[in-house]
Amino acid sequence: MPLHRLTALTMGVPNVDETIAYYTEFGLTPGADGWLSSTDGGQQLRVTGAPSRRLIEIGIGAEHPGDITEVVHRLRATGAPVQTDGTSVTTIEPVTGTRIVVTVAEPLLQPHTPATPYNGPGRIERQNGRAPGVLRDTAVRPRKLGHVVLGTTDFEASTTFFVDVIGFKVSDRIKDHGAFLRCSTDHHNLLVLNAPVAFLHHSSWQVDDIDEVGRGASAMLEGNPERHVWGLGRHHAGSNFFWYLKDPAGNFSEYYSDMDSIIDDQLWSPETLAGARGLFNWGPPPPPSFLAPDDLAEIMTGAHQPG
Ligand SMILES: [Fe+2]
Repeated sequence: MPLHRLTALTMGVPNVDETIAYYTEFGLTPGADGWLSSTDGGQQLRVTGAPSRRLIEIGIGAEHPGDITEVVHRLRATGAPVQTDGTSVTTIEPVTGTRIVVTVAEPLLQPHTPATPYNGPGRIERQNGRAPGVLRDTAVRPRKLGHVVLGTTDFEASTTFFVDVIGFKVSDRIKDHGAFLRCSTDHHNLLVLNAPVAFLHHSSWQVDDIDEVGRGASAMLEGNPERHVWGLGRHHAGSNFFWYLKDPAGNFSEYYSDMDSIIDDQLWSPETLAGARGLFNWGPPPPPSFLAPDDLAEIMTGAHQPG
């Protein structure tokens, strides 16, 4: 596919240093200019100053300069702002004001990671030994940025922009509420979600397996139980295991593993999920603050302040 990955996200927060410290503890590696890196994806999160928390920029990787030209043509046809140098194009998503940058980028080739042996009925894959998941003692390190969830006041218009103009594909929909979109073989790299105000709902970071989801979240909660939002569970859309935590600016951050991969578009049938299925398959019930974060009213007030 012409688009092949999510490259990076930039979030604006009032408390930059505190937020960088949180994502460092989360397992990303801090560098210069507010950038943090995952182990496989490199520089994928930039934290910058803003009066209230918001998603500032989403970076997307394309294969060839010709793919950029096509995005430019489609943008110009809609009258959207366009800045391009031939190998990248920058525009603004019209509903949320999020900056979108599509750049020619190298593919993200992750090294093959052997499966952890799991015992099951009649299937003893691990003999005479403890599970690797209970023996690990190193800090959990996210492998890559997996997806971003963007709240928008018009999810149909935002979805149309990302699909028809930028080039995302629809993997599944949440009835009357959202759309799971992909710009890679991951089930979703972007979830566009109906909301009363534009905001960053969460960023999601891939770890090796369910043990790393649990170990990562448990480590973050040690001494900071207020960071817990929702988990452990398994989503229906994308099938991934999840555990959500809250950063000091109010953005949610997710550890995930085992997401569905769509290698052949012809073999995947998007569904419209209704009810709880749109949210999860199993796990504790989501807290109301997951669906409507506590600071939404505050963000709405900020969003309407002049300047
Ligand atoms: Fe997620």
